[in-house]
Amino acid sequence: MVKATTCRMHGMLWWSILLCFCLASFYFRPVSSRFSTSMKLARTRAHLRRINKPAIQSIQSPDGDVIDCVLLSHQPALDHPKLRNHQIQMEPPMLPEGLRHKTTTEEEKIDGSMFKPQLWHYVEQKCPPGTIPIRRTTENDLLRAEKINRYGKKNQRPFYPPQTALIHSSLNENGHQHAITYVEGDKYYGAKAEINVWAPSIEMPNEFSLSQLWLLAGSFEGDLNSIEAGWQVSPDLYGDNNTRLFTYWTSDAYQATGCYNLLCSGFVQISDQIALGATISPLSGYGGRQFDIDILIWKDPRAGNWWMSFGQNCVLGYWPAALFTNLAEAATMVEWGGEVVNSEPGSRHTSTQMGSGHFPSEGFGRASYFSNLQIVDASNNLQPPGNLNTFSENAACYDVENGYNSEWGYYFYYGGPGYNDRCP
Ligand SMILES: *[C@@H]1O[C@H](CO)[C@@H](O)[C@H](O)[C@H]1NC(C)=O
Repeated sequence: MVKATTCRMHGMLWWSILLCFCLASFYFRPVSSRFSTSMKLARTRAHLRRINKPAIQSIQSPDGDVIDCVLLSHQPALDHPKLRNHQIQMEPPMLPEGLRHKTTTEEEKIDGSMFKPQLWHYVEQKCPPGTIPIRRTTENDLLRAEKINRYGKKNQRPFYPPQTALIHSSLNENGHQHAITYVEGDKYYGAKAEINVWAPSIEMPNEFSLSQLWLLAGSFEGDLNSIEAGWQVSPDLYGDNNTRLFTYWTSDAYQATGCYNLLCSGFVQISDQIALGATISPLSGYGGRQFDIDILIWKDPRAGNWWMSFGQNCVLGYWPAALFTNLAEAATMVEWGGEVVNSEPGSRHTSTQMGSGHFPSEGFGRASYFSNLQIVDASNNLQPPGNLNTFSENAACYDVENGYNSEWGYYFYYGGPGYNDRCP
């Protein structure tokens, strides 16, 4: 009898201890997660205060972006330790000689003269002279990032086509897929292309699709310097599927230095017209009108800064020479083309598209292209790129085809749908 009671007592005791634990964890878990959420929010806000500079005026873009007009002298670049006393160069150096542009009437130029090249231009407000337009980073942008201080940075290994055989396993590991054209083996003081602009669809929010050019120098194992520009669709970075203009730089193979756009200090912007990271408009349609963006990157032979122009007459700004080591003299490789992330290598291939989502064989109006490929030589002259090589990890998923004609100069079609019968 006693025994049984004790037993029951014990039982009750155990149950109440258990209940107590349950209640405690029920009670404490929300509190602690609320605590860490508020910690993250506090750190997010502190980070936002660092990267969003005070605006003279703000413009609400139809896509939900806010474009802040920030005084030139308040721009993020000047926070860089190597640019503390930097004198902003408002006068671009001489454009390289021999710039070739398309002359056909089939395509239209998105260069700001005929068209408003970015969606926020449609609101009929401009940033005043002496300011630069900057896409404002939001709390949601940062909350999507795994680590706040990696927001705006690529998480990837550098990509070196000729060693593909050697690093094939690591390529598969991070799931990045390319279809590119490249030159190497010389010194390159710049590069140019007209890039057809599309809205590829992205299957998973942590995947992206981009079309860009790369200027590279250094070792792919540790000190690679890279300057990159083009268009991208990246739900992770921007929270939507819009096609956006972007730049990227790194001086240590994507480890600690560099970032997209103005998301860290480095790139010095002088244009009051174009916002990095802003949505491009209009876009090409399948079987419809085609639109291109012109991108030229070239090195100032005197000061050594790497400049970028967008369209036929808009100089965007420059990457100061001080940011780089291997690019201090010249690039040793130039790549042009597309890259997507296949986020679950090993299972079904992603259906994230590259380019227009159609293979090169479909040709003009259906497949995406780069045309008028040129490189800049040591005398600041634009030249044909020389011996072009192509590379893709799996041509059944995304492919690339080079060509030449008198109207387009050196060009290529590239891209594809990803997942299909031959790319399972
Ligand atoms: C982006 O596109 C994907 C696939 O088409 C869709 O599932 C997703 O909802 C889109 N995301 C946004 C933010 O519109």
